[in-house]
Amino acid sequence: MAVIKSPALHLLYMVATVVVMVAADLQQFKHPVKAGGSLSFLVIGDWGRRGLYNQSNVAYQMGKVGDQMDVDFIVSTGDNFYDSGLVDEDDPAFFDSFTNVYTAPSLQKQWYSVLGNHDYRGNALAQLSPELRQRDNRWHCMRSFILHAGNADFFFVDTTPFHEKYFTEEDQEYDWRGVLPREDYLSQLLKDVDVALKDSSAKWKIVVGHHTIHSAGVHGNTQELVDKLLPILLENEVILYINGHDHCLEHISSSNSQLQFLTSGGGSKAWRGDINPWNLDEMKFYYDGQGFMAGEITENDLVVSFYDVFGNVLHKWSGSGNMRSAC
Ligand SMILES: *[C@@H]1O[C@H](CO)[C@@H](O)[C@H](O)[C@H]1NC(C)=O
Repeated sequence: MAVIKSPALHLLYMVATVVVMVAADLQQFKHPVKAGGSLSFLVIGDWGRRGLYNQSNVAYQMGKVGDQMDVDFIVSTGDNFYDSGLVDEDDPAFFDSFTNVYTAPSLQKQWYSVLGNHDYRGNALAQLSPELRQRDNRWHCMRSFILHAGNADFFFVDTTPFHEKYFTEEDQEYDWRGVLPREDYLSQLLKDVDVALKDSSAKWKIVVGHHTIHSAGVHGNTQELVDKLLPILLENEVILYINGHDHCLEHISSSNSQLQFLTSGGGSKAWRGDINPWNLDEMKFYYDGQGFMAGEITENDLVVSFYDVFGNVLHKWSGSGNMRSAC
């Protein structure tokens, strides 16, 4: 992994007084891909429960599939540590729920993570702290950032602050340090994501966030994201929106665009049992149990697969036939 220093960032170092104007640029990283340009990765969400609720079994199968696919990195869609994120950088949950659970050799790769709402209930800054990387150098958690990997660009978006409810509910506390004033934070973030998507020349544009845009699960759609983020994804020909939040595995397609909505939130506690009705033309797959997702990207193809806790492939989808640029 290498940090790309954008010109704006250099400017930041040189002219401290313009920090406010340029600091908002999303940080960019580059992950090397395999010789030949292909890339494979796993996606896990809603997981940190000290191995309980099948977290360890999911981890075991991730290790096996990760080995077979020779994965390049892991993506975490957030809700990394239950119930309330980390207390601080020394919280033993970091080892109990991460380091000592995902022990397979194939999983000793970079983990690119965003924060979920449960992470914001604890010390959000602790998860973002570079100190954690010294404890386990796989850990790479940021609010919003860009990852370039071969012909794919991943845009990680901090979705928790979009959710109005978290700012009004009275029985929960959230760590909003660095997020307030909220309206400024959100408008800057949306602008940054839009600009970054427009700047991207990658064949495959993939956006990752914790919250659902479309889901038939218990949380359902996140209206704020439908209203504010979805139009930007559609305008910029994003192929995948990947999230967690609903504790299930799910694939919803769009009837009017190439965008696919993928939920990988089966990292530990699942089996909520309730699924809301959805248009059957769009609903490609829904599984209310534990598991994870895998992605494989080659020059002309993008394949996603969902695995259960036994390592069975439950659903597979290929994006090659759907690409506009392939026409
Ligand atoms: C663990 O996974 C199995 C197989 O899917 C399931 O039957 C069981 O209920 C799960 N256990 C928990 C605690 O979720």
